[in-house]
Amino acid sequence: MRLRSIFLSLPLWLGVASAGSQSTLDPAGPAAKYISDLSWTVYATFCVVGVIMWVLLAWAATRRRGSFDHHEPVDAEGGHGWIYVGGLAIPFVILATIFVLGLKTMAAFPVHDGGHVHPEIRVTGRQWWWDVEYVNGPIDEHFRTANEIHIPVGRAVDIELLSADVIHSFWVPRLHGKEDLVPGQPNVIRIQADQPGTYAGQCAEYCGAQHAHMMLSVVAQSPSDYETWIAGQLHPAAQPVDDAQMRGQQLFRVKPCALCHTIRGTDSHGTVGPDLTHIGSRQGIAANMLVNNQANLAAWVTHAQALKPASQMPNISQFTGDELLALVAYLQSLK
Ligand code: CUA
Repeated sequence: MRLRSIFLSLPLWLGVASAGSQSTLDPAGPAAKYISDLSWTVYATFCVVGVIMWVLLAWAATRRRGSFDHHEPVDAEGGHGWIYVGGLAIPFVILATIFVLGLKTMAAFPVHDGGHVHPEIRVTGRQWWWDVEYVNGPIDEHFRTANEIHIPVGRAVDIELLSADVIHSFWVPRLHGKEDLVPGQPNVIRIQADQPGTYAGQCAEYCGAQHAHMMLSVVAQSPSDYETWIAGQLHPAAQPVDDAQMRGQQLFRVKPCALCHTIRGTDSHGTVGPDLTHIGSRQGIAANMLVNNQANLAAWVTHAQALKPASQMPNISQFTGDELLALVAYLQSLK
Protein backbone atom coordinates (compact mmCIF):
# COMPACT_ATOMS: atom_id res chain seq x y z
CA MET A 1 0.00 0.00 0.00
CA ARG A 2 1.63 3.21 -1.18
CA LEU A 3 -0.05 5.51 1.34
CA ARG A 4 1.21 3.30 4.11
CA SER A 5 4.81 3.24 2.92
CA ILE A 6 4.78 7.04 2.72
CA PHE A 7 3.62 7.35 6.29
CA LEU A 8 6.03 4.71 7.53
CA SER A 9 8.90 6.88 6.35
CA LEU A 10 7.55 9.80 8.38
CA PRO A 11 7.70 9.98 12.19
CA LEU A 12 9.65 7.31 14.02
CA TRP A 13 6.79 6.36 16.32
CA LEU A 14 4.66 5.31 13.38
CA GLY A 15 7.50 3.16 12.09
CA VAL A 16 7.96 1.54 15.49
CA ALA A 17 4.25 0.94 15.85
CA SER A 18 4.09 -0.85 12.56
CA ALA A 19 7.20 -2.99 12.91
CA GLY A 20 6.37 -5.07 15.97
CA SER A 21 4.36 -8.24 16.21
CA GLN A 22 1.60 -6.46 18.17
CA SER A 23 0.69 -3.72 15.71
CA THR A 24 -2.83 -2.55 14.97
CA LEU A 25 -1.39 -1.20 11.71
CA ASP A 26 -0.33 -4.66 10.53
CA PRO A 27 -3.70 -6.42 10.31
CA ALA A 28 -3.88 -10.18 9.80
CA GLY A 29 -7.65 -10.63 9.77
CA PRO A 30 -10.84 -8.88 8.62
CA ALA A 31 -11.74 -7.17 11.91
CA ALA A 32 -8.24 -5.79 12.35
CA LYS A 33 -8.30 -4.61 8.73
CA TYR A 34 -11.31 -2.39 9.42
CA ILE A 35 -9.54 -0.87 12.39
CA SER A 36 -6.30 -0.41 10.47
CA ASP A 37 -8.06 1.30 7.57
CA LEU A 38 -9.79 3.70 9.96
CA SER A 39 -6.49 4.40 11.70
CA TRP A 40 -4.70 5.25 8.45
CA THR A 41 -7.58 7.52 7.41
CA VAL A 42 -7.33 9.39 10.70
CA TYR A 43 -3.51 9.66 10.53
CA ALA A 44 -3.64 10.89 6.94
CA THR A 45 -6.29 13.49 7.77
CA PHE A 46 -4.42 14.79 10.79
CA CYS A 47 -1.14 14.92 8.87
CA VAL A 48 -2.77 17.10 6.19
CA VAL A 49 -4.37 19.32 8.85
CA GLY A 50 -1.06 19.50 10.69
CA VAL A 51 0.88 20.60 7.59
CA ILE A 52 -1.72 23.28 6.79
CA MET A 53 -1.57 24.57 10.37
CA TRP A 54 2.24 24.82 10.32
CA VAL A 55 2.15 26.65 6.99
CA LEU A 56 -0.40 29.13 8.35
CA LEU A 57 1.66 29.57 11.51
CA ALA A 58 4.78 30.24 9.49
CA TRP A 59 2.88 32.68 7.30
CA ALA A 60 1.47 34.56 10.31
CA ALA A 61 4.89 34.74 11.96
CA THR A 62 6.76 36.02 8.93
CA ARG A 63 4.35 38.33 7.11
CA ARG A 64 5.10 42.05 7.14
CA ARG A 65 3.16 44.08 9.64
CA GLY A 66 3.12 47.25 7.56
CA SER A 67 0.51 48.99 9.68
CA PHE A 68 2.67 48.85 12.86
CA ASP A 69 5.72 50.18 11.12
CA HIS A 70 3.90 53.32 9.93
CA HIS A 71 1.87 54.01 13.10
CA GLU A 72 -1.38 53.51 11.25
CA PRO A 73 -4.48 52.28 13.13
CA VAL A 74 -4.70 48.47 13.46
CA ASP A 75 -7.93 46.76 12.35
CA ALA A 76 -8.69 44.93 15.63
CA GLU A 77 -12.03 43.72 14.29
CA GLY A 78 -10.51 41.66 11.44
CA GLY A 79 -10.02 37.88 11.29
CA HIS A 80 -13.55 36.72 12.18
CA GLY A 81 -13.79 34.81 8.93
CA TRP A 82 -10.75 32.74 9.90
CA ILE A 83 -12.36 31.84 13.22
CA TYR A 84 -15.73 30.83 11.75
CA VAL A 85 -14.31 28.85 8.86
CA GLY A 86 -10.96 27.58 10.17
CA GLY A 87 -11.92 27.30 13.84
CA LEU A 88 -15.48 26.01 13.60
CA ALA A 89 -16.69 24.88 10.17
CA ILE A 90 -13.66 22.91 8.99
CA PRO A 91 -13.03 21.13 12.34
CA PHE A 92 -16.72 20.28 12.53
CA VAL A 93 -16.71 18.70 9.07
CA ILE A 94 -13.49 16.75 9.76
CA LEU A 95 -14.55 15.46 13.19
CA ALA A 96 -18.08 14.61 11.99
CA THR A 97 -16.62 12.65 9.05
CA ILE A 98 -14.29 10.69 11.33
CA PHE A 99 -17.17 10.05 13.74
CA VAL A 100 -19.31 8.61 10.93
CA LEU A 101 -16.39 6.50 9.67
CA GLY A 102 -15.97 5.23 13.23
CA LEU A 103 -19.64 4.26 13.40
CA LYS A 104 -19.31 2.47 10.05
CA THR A 105 -16.31 0.54 11.35
CA MET A 106 -18.27 -0.50 14.43
CA ALA A 107 -21.19 -1.60 12.25
CA ALA A 108 -18.84 -3.90 10.35
CA PHE A 109 -18.41 -5.98 13.51
CA PRO A 110 -20.94 -8.72 14.15
CA VAL A 111 -23.36 -7.91 16.94
CA HIS A 112 -23.69 -10.69 19.48
CA ASP A 113 -26.92 -11.00 21.36
CA GLY A 114 -25.73 -13.95 23.40
CA GLY A 115 -28.52 -16.34 22.54
CA HIS A 116 -27.52 -17.05 18.95
CA VAL A 117 -23.80 -17.41 19.40
CA HIS A 118 -22.20 -20.73 20.22
CA PRO A 119 -18.61 -19.89 21.05
CA GLU A 120 -16.04 -22.57 20.35
CA ILE A 121 -13.68 -21.26 22.99
CA ARG A 122 -14.23 -19.77 26.42
CA VAL A 123 -11.49 -17.57 27.81
CA THR A 124 -11.58 -16.62 31.48
CA GLY A 125 -9.33 -13.81 32.65
CA ARG A 126 -7.60 -14.44 35.98
CA GLN A 127 -5.03 -12.48 37.90
CA TRP A 128 -2.80 -12.85 35.93
CA TRP A 129 -3.24 -15.46 33.22
CA TRP A 130 -5.76 -16.70 30.66
CA ASP A 131 -7.76 -19.84 31.33
CA VAL A 132 -8.70 -21.26 27.91
CA GLU A 133 -11.44 -23.84 27.51
CA TYR A 134 -12.47 -25.44 24.23
CA VAL A 135 -16.21 -25.90 24.49
CA ASN A 136 -17.14 -27.01 20.99
CA GLY A 137 -19.06 -30.27 20.66
CA PRO A 138 -20.12 -32.70 23.39
CA ILE A 139 -18.88 -32.28 26.94
CA ASP A 140 -16.36 -35.13 26.70
CA GLU A 141 -14.66 -33.21 23.89
CA HIS A 142 -14.08 -30.14 26.04
CA PHE A 143 -10.58 -29.49 27.29
CA ARG A 144 -8.58 -26.78 29.02
CA THR A 145 -5.31 -25.10 28.26
CA ALA A 146 -3.85 -21.70 29.13
CA ASN A 147 -2.47 -18.54 27.56
CA GLU A 148 -2.20 -20.04 24.07
CA ILE A 149 -5.24 -20.22 21.79
CA HIS A 150 -5.11 -22.26 18.62
CA ILE A 151 -7.48 -21.46 15.76
CA PRO A 152 -7.80 -22.73 12.19
CA VAL A 153 -6.63 -20.23 9.59
CA GLY A 154 -9.19 -18.50 7.35
CA ARG A 155 -12.25 -19.18 9.48
CA ALA A 156 -14.04 -16.95 11.99
CA VAL A 157 -13.92 -18.26 15.56
CA ASP A 158 -16.18 -16.95 18.31
CA ILE A 159 -14.59 -16.67 21.72
CA GLU A 160 -16.61 -16.10 24.87
CA LEU A 161 -14.86 -13.82 27.32
CA LEU A 162 -15.37 -14.05 31.08
CA SER A 163 -13.56 -12.96 34.19
CA ALA A 164 -13.04 -14.77 37.46
CA ASP A 165 -11.98 -11.68 39.40
CA VAL A 166 -11.52 -8.14 38.05
CA ILE A 167 -11.97 -6.61 34.60
CA HIS A 168 -9.38 -7.67 32.02
CA SER A 169 -9.28 -6.91 28.32
CA PHE A 170 -8.53 -9.31 25.47
CA TRP A 171 -6.34 -7.67 22.88
CA VAL A 172 -4.56 -9.35 19.98
CA PRO A 173 -3.85 -6.24 17.91
CA ARG A 174 -3.19 -7.96 14.58
CA LEU A 175 -6.54 -9.80 14.77
CA HIS A 176 -9.03 -7.46 16.44
CA GLY A 177 -9.63 -4.52 18.75
CA LYS A 178 -9.94 -4.77 22.51
CA GLU A 179 -12.83 -6.57 24.21
CA ASP A 180 -13.27 -6.52 27.97
CA LEU A 181 -13.62 -9.59 30.20
CA VAL A 182 -16.13 -8.50 32.81
CA PRO A 183 -17.18 -10.51 35.89
CA GLY A 184 -20.76 -11.69 35.43
CA GLN A 185 -21.10 -10.27 31.91
CA PRO A 186 -20.02 -12.65 29.13
CA ASN A 187 -18.80 -10.93 25.99
CA VAL A 188 -18.08 -12.53 22.64
CA ILE A 189 -15.31 -11.62 20.23
CA ARG A 190 -15.03 -13.02 16.71
CA ILE A 191 -11.47 -13.41 15.51
CA GLN A 192 -10.11 -14.65 12.21
CA ALA A 193 -6.53 -14.98 10.99
CA ASP A 194 -5.94 -15.02 7.24
CA GLN A 195 -2.37 -16.34 7.46
CA PRO A 196 -0.84 -19.05 9.63
CA GLY A 197 1.32 -17.71 12.41
CA THR A 198 1.55 -16.79 16.05
CA TYR A 199 -0.18 -13.55 17.02
CA ALA A 200 0.83 -11.96 20.30
CA GLY A 201 -1.76 -10.52 22.63
CA GLN A 202 -1.86 -8.64 25.89
CA CYS A 203 -4.29 -7.83 28.66
CA ALA A 204 -5.34 -4.26 27.86
CA GLU A 205 -7.16 -3.27 31.04
CA TYR A 206 -5.20 -2.55 34.20
CA CYS A 207 -5.97 -5.49 36.49
CA GLY A 208 -3.44 -5.33 39.32
CA ALA A 209 0.25 -5.77 40.05
CA GLN A 210 1.06 -8.13 37.18
CA HIS A 211 -1.19 -6.62 34.51
CA ALA A 212 1.84 -6.00 32.28
CA HIS A 213 2.77 -9.69 32.53
CA MET A 214 -0.60 -11.00 31.38
CA MET A 215 0.19 -12.00 27.83
CA LEU A 216 -1.37 -14.53 25.50
CA SER A 217 -0.85 -15.79 21.99
CA VAL A 218 -3.13 -16.93 19.21
CA VAL A 219 -1.65 -19.66 17.00
CA ALA A 220 -3.36 -19.86 13.61
CA GLN A 221 -2.82 -23.20 11.87
CA SER A 222 -3.88 -24.88 8.66
CA PRO A 223 -7.14 -26.81 9.17
CA SER A 224 -5.31 -30.16 9.20
CA ASP A 225 -2.65 -28.96 11.67
CA TYR A 226 -5.43 -27.55 13.81
CA GLU A 227 -7.30 -30.87 13.85
CA THR A 228 -4.06 -32.61 14.82
CA TRP A 229 -3.56 -30.15 17.65
CA ILE A 230 -7.14 -30.62 18.88
CA ALA A 231 -6.72 -34.41 18.84
CA GLY A 232 -3.50 -34.11 20.83
CA GLN A 233 -5.07 -31.81 23.42
CA LEU A 234 -8.00 -34.20 23.88
CA HIS A 235 -5.63 -36.94 24.98
CA PRO A 236 -4.88 -37.29 28.67
CA ALA A 237 -1.32 -36.50 29.72
CA ALA A 238 1.58 -38.57 28.43
CA GLN A 239 2.87 -41.21 30.82
CA PRO A 240 6.48 -41.00 32.03
CA VAL A 241 8.90 -42.96 29.85
CA ASP A 242 12.06 -42.86 31.96
CA ASP A 243 13.14 -42.80 35.59
CA ALA A 244 13.56 -39.02 35.78
CA GLN A 245 10.07 -38.36 34.40
CA MET A 246 8.66 -41.02 36.72
CA ARG A 247 10.27 -39.33 39.69
CA GLY A 248 9.07 -35.95 38.47
CA GLN A 249 5.50 -37.19 38.26
CA GLN A 250 5.74 -38.53 41.80
CA LEU A 251 7.12 -35.21 43.06
CA PHE A 252 4.32 -33.31 41.32
CA ARG A 253 1.79 -35.37 43.28
CA VAL A 254 3.41 -35.14 46.73
CA LYS A 255 4.61 -31.53 46.57
CA PRO A 256 2.06 -28.67 46.57
CA CYS A 257 1.79 -28.66 42.72
CA ALA A 258 -1.24 -30.94 42.52
CA LEU A 259 -3.24 -28.74 44.92
CA CYS A 260 -3.52 -26.04 42.28
CA HIS A 261 -2.93 -27.68 38.90
CA THR A 262 -4.72 -30.32 36.86
CA ILE A 263 -2.92 -32.94 34.79
CA ARG A 264 -5.63 -34.96 33.08
CA GLY A 265 -5.11 -38.69 33.36
CA THR A 266 -3.49 -38.35 36.79
CA ASP A 267 -4.95 -37.68 40.22
CA SER A 268 -3.95 -33.99 40.08
CA HIS A 269 -7.17 -31.99 39.80
CA GLY A 270 -6.38 -28.52 41.18
CA THR A 271 -8.11 -25.59 39.50
CA VAL A 272 -6.34 -22.56 40.98
CA GLY A 273 -3.64 -22.43 38.32
CA PRO A 274 -3.38 -23.36 34.64
CA ASP A 275 -4.16 -26.87 33.39
CA LEU A 276 -0.76 -28.48 32.78
CA THR A 277 -1.90 -31.59 30.87
CA HIS A 278 0.03 -30.49 27.77
CA ILE A 279 2.31 -27.85 29.27
CA GLY A 280 5.25 -29.26 27.28
CA SER A 281 3.55 -28.28 24.02
CA ARG A 282 3.09 -24.61 24.93
CA GLN A 283 5.46 -21.87 23.81
CA GLY A 284 5.38 -19.84 27.01
CA ILE A 285 4.84 -20.13 30.75
CA ALA A 286 3.65 -17.64 33.39
CA ALA A 287 1.15 -16.08 30.95
CA ASN A 288 3.86 -15.96 28.26
CA MET A 289 6.14 -13.88 30.44
CA LEU A 290 8.81 -16.58 30.00
CA VAL A 291 9.76 -18.83 27.12
CA ASN A 292 8.91 -22.42 27.95
CA ASN A 293 12.30 -24.08 28.45
CA GLN A 294 14.12 -26.06 31.10
CA ALA A 295 15.81 -23.12 32.81
CA ASN A 296 12.66 -20.99 32.95
CA LEU A 297 10.51 -23.85 34.21
CA ALA A 298 12.99 -24.49 37.04
CA ALA A 299 13.17 -20.77 37.83
CA TRP A 300 9.40 -20.41 37.79
CA VAL A 301 8.80 -23.39 40.09
CA THR A 302 11.33 -22.20 42.66
CA HIS A 303 11.17 -18.39 42.34
CA ALA A 304 7.72 -17.48 41.04
CA GLN A 305 7.31 -14.74 43.64
CA ALA A 306 10.56 -13.08 42.56
CA LEU A 307 9.57 -13.26 38.89
CA LYS A 308 5.92 -12.33 39.31
CA PRO A 309 5.29 -10.92 42.81
CA ALA A 310 1.75 -11.28 44.19
CA SER A 311 0.77 -13.99 41.72
CA GLN A 312 -0.94 -17.10 43.08
CA MET A 313 2.09 -19.27 42.24
CA PRO A 314 4.19 -19.72 45.41
CA ASN A 315 7.92 -20.39 45.54
CA ILE A 316 8.22 -24.18 45.71
CA SER A 317 11.73 -24.40 47.06
CA GLN A 318 11.86 -27.70 48.92
CA PHE A 319 13.65 -29.58 46.14
CA THR A 320 17.14 -30.97 45.78
CA GLY A 321 18.78 -30.15 42.47
CA ASP A 322 18.09 -33.64 41.15
CA GLU A 323 14.45 -33.45 42.17
CA LEU A 324 13.99 -30.12 40.41
CA LEU A 325 15.52 -31.52 37.22
CA ALA A 326 13.23 -34.54 37.43
CA LEU A 327 10.14 -32.38 37.92
CA VAL A 328 11.08 -30.16 34.98
CA ALA A 329 11.80 -33.23 32.82
CA TYR A 330 8.33 -34.52 33.62
CA LEU A 331 6.66 -31.17 32.80
CA GLN A 332 8.58 -30.93 29.52
CA SER A 333 7.45 -34.46 28.59
CA LEU A 334 3.79 -33.40 28.74
CA LYS A 335 3.54 -32.60 25.05
CU1 CUA B 1 -5.55 -8.66 33.14
CU2 CUA B 1 -4.68 -6.48 32.86
